[in-house]
Amino acid sequence: MQPMIQARTLAKRFGEVVAVRNISVSVMPGSVYALLGPNGAGKSTTINMLTTLLKPDQGSITINGHDVERESDLVRRVIGVTFQDLVLDRDLTGREALDFAGRLYNIEASKRRARITDLVEMVGLGDAIDRMTGTYSGGMRRRLELARCLMMEPKVLFLDEPTQGLDPQHRALIWDYIRMLKTQQGMTVLLTTHGMDEAEALADVVGIIDHGKMMHEGTPSALIGQLGSDLIRLSGTFTHLHTPEWTSEQWVTSWQASETEIRIGVDIGARRITQVIEFVNQSGNTIEEVSITRPSLGDVFLQATGRALRDER
Ligand SMILES: Nc1ncnc2c1ncn2[C@@H]1O[C@H](COP(=O)(O)OP(=O)(O)OP(=O)(O)O)[C@@H](O)[C@H]1O
Ligand SMILES: [Mg+2]
Repeated sequence: MQPMIQARTLAKRFGEVVAVRNISVSVMPGSVYALLGPNGAGKSTTINMLTTLLKPDQGSITINGHDVERESDLVRRVIGVTFQDLVLDRDLTGREALDFAGRLYNIEASKRRARITDLVEMVGLGDAIDRMTGTYSGGMRRRLELARCLMMEPKVLFLDEPTQGLDPQHRALIWDYIRMLKTQQGMTVLLTTHGMDEAEALADVVGIIDHGKMMHEGTPSALIGQLGSDLIRLSGTFTHLHTPEWTSEQWVTSWQASETEIRIGVDIGARRITQVIEFVNQSGNTIEEVSITRPSLGDVFLQATGRALRDER
């Protein structure tokens, strides 16, 4: 099977700023891919290049087998895009906005009407669809935006931060739609997010990017698995931060230390904890708190970049 989205060694700079340094992405048909990274990582720049809106300085992209640069018309026919900054015309009703989108794609009137009815039902906008979009809440706007880009029944959906600014309830709703589009319509979805829970909940494959580079890529469980099945966290005051010899033992899968926190990935937390505490105590450190958790994608990110993923919701 050919990838639906294939991007090789993309690079893009804006003057002095290198927004994307080297990103390659391959997404199989019917799967969900999440680009996960903090603010400024290069997510929107990448999605804009993938969707023909921005010309890469370097690299090549094909969507559904078509070259994004040479066959941009063919590519535009199969993709739907939602933007991070919503660009709704506030003086239209939701229904008019959807109808306008349908006209752009030359969908005939009766088909447009039927599709709008279906989509309004799907995203749960109800009677609000006949109100001016200027009166919509953030969540309603995101849902209308999703409906808008589904008007032309795209094969491939690009969603730039689809749940930014939404409360947990509406995030969950959007997650449900995305899952449904994948399972019921076999849609290929590439989304960006800086929420690791979102990537974990939705994605078949996650690409962790930072500073315009792909740091790690894999299924959520494989990425998390690399850290070990349990994560022992010690907080306190640690002055001896050199990587101790015992971390090369087979049961230690990862090690990361700062002056206030040590994180150790291990095979079985409960079995190793006493030993770990003993080892860390020996070197003259002070442990104040100990916990064992399952690692999350956030821990993978921290391990890859040395920084926490800021979640600015
Ligand atoms: N049109 C532009 N002109 C100049 N600099 C830009 C432009 N677009 C993006 N950048 C810069 O490129 C870098 C990557 O930006 P980008 O918007 O791709 O990040 P992002 O991962 O989408 O971030 P966020 O999570 O905040 O949406 C940033 O340093 C940004 O300031
Ligand atoms: Mg962005």
